Amino acid sequence: MTSIPLTRTELDVRSVREDFPILRALAHGKPLIYLDNAATTQKPQVVLDRLVRYYTHENANVHRGVHLLSERATDAYEEARKTAARFLHAAETQEIIFVRGTTEAINLVAQTYGRVHVGAGDEVVITVMEHHSNIVPWQMLCDERGARLRIVPMTDEGALRIDSYEALLGDRTRIVAVTHVSNALGTVNPIRRIVEIAHARGIPVLVDGAQAVAHTAVDVQALDCDFYTFSGHKVFGPTGIGVLYGKAALLDAVPPYQGGGDMIRSVSFERTLYNVLPYKFEAGTPNIAGGVGLGAAIEYVEALGFDRIGAHERDLLAYGTRALEGIPGLRLTGTAGDKGGILSFVLDGVHPHDVGTILDREGVAIRTGHHCCQPLMARLGVPATSRASLALYNTRAEIDVLAGALAKVREVFV
Ligand code: ALA
Repeated sequence: MTSIPLTRTELDVRSVREDFPILRALAHGKPLIYLDNAATTQKPQVVLDRLVRYYTHENANVHRGVHLLSERATDAYEEARKTAARFLHAAETQEIIFVRGTTEAINLVAQTYGRVHVGAGDEVVITVMEHHSNIVPWQMLCDERGARLRIVPMTDEGALRIDSYEALLGDRTRIVAVTHVSNALGTVNPIRRIVEIAHARGIPVLVDGAQAVAHTAVDVQALDCDFYTFSGHKVFGPTGIGVLYGKAALLDAVPPYQGGGDMIRSVSFERTLYNVLPYKFEAGTPNIAGGVGLGAAIEYVEALGFDRIGAHERDLLAYGTRALEGIPGLRLTGTAGDKGGILSFVLDGVHPHDVGTILDREGVAIRTGHHCCQPLMARLGVPATSRASLALYNTRAEIDVLAGALAKVREVFV
């Protein structure tokens, strides 16, 4: 059999899969089919190797020592910051704050920018499809300040109601916080438009990019968003490291998040002067290895190219949508026109946890539950869904196994 050569815009998935050692694993004696990428992604060998190299040859504390290893660690960590800045097309490297993940990034903005700018009677606008990490930090801020959360609604398909969004913005709106891609529906929100509408009223916008960065190129300058956040582990990097991008002028003008080492210029018992960006927001010894590993992960996806990754995932999503729609009693939740690789669904008469458990026995890993989106589940009128979430290493053959396993679930329960 002659193989058909790949075109320049096609992802070589077979070779990509070889980069991820865990994908060779068996689960319950069956080949592992990993479809829980919205929860976390697997790690390519280059990231694993980078972590080992860091701890083997470079490990020391950063920004402190004058010795060789400290210089190496500092160089590696700061190189990763430059890589993250390039990845997001940030205007300046100092606009990249390393944090533990998206959750910490949003808390940081709420507790710094939010505390300065949100007062009694003010409003923070979020949307009905936010993850708890883009709800609770704002709710905590609003409770503390006597401010109010306003919620942008969506259509039954899962698209934001932009007309309602526009109507919600008013004199008291101090910030808009919105997800780029919904983790539970897959909806890709029109961020550029959302930012334009807010900026026309002088309101800044924070974008939760946790579910976007592994699937699409992000240009924070083109989007013109004021803050953008993501987690390293969702883009093939380590856990415990993430990025907050913020426009330098906004970050400069607000106080630090946490106090401690590295975030200071000088300390006396009378007065502390804070460090410059980005260090002002990075108190304590950071996750140096995590940052370095994230840099390697970013270089990995950049080398594959988002044109190829995007085309592959769009094909998988279309294929998966057709396959799942053909299963009697299955209803997809989240069918917005602009959608990323999330297949969330409910199966008549079967609890999602039972779906997940039976699929697991077939080697198929999915997530079931409320996906940290309880208000969204309430809007959908379901307690939970089952969710298969795609990444660049998934294949049509894996979707076939998913669909076959779902047919088995129906045989057991219906
Ligand atoms: N936010 C992650 C998810 O959607 C944990 O599964």
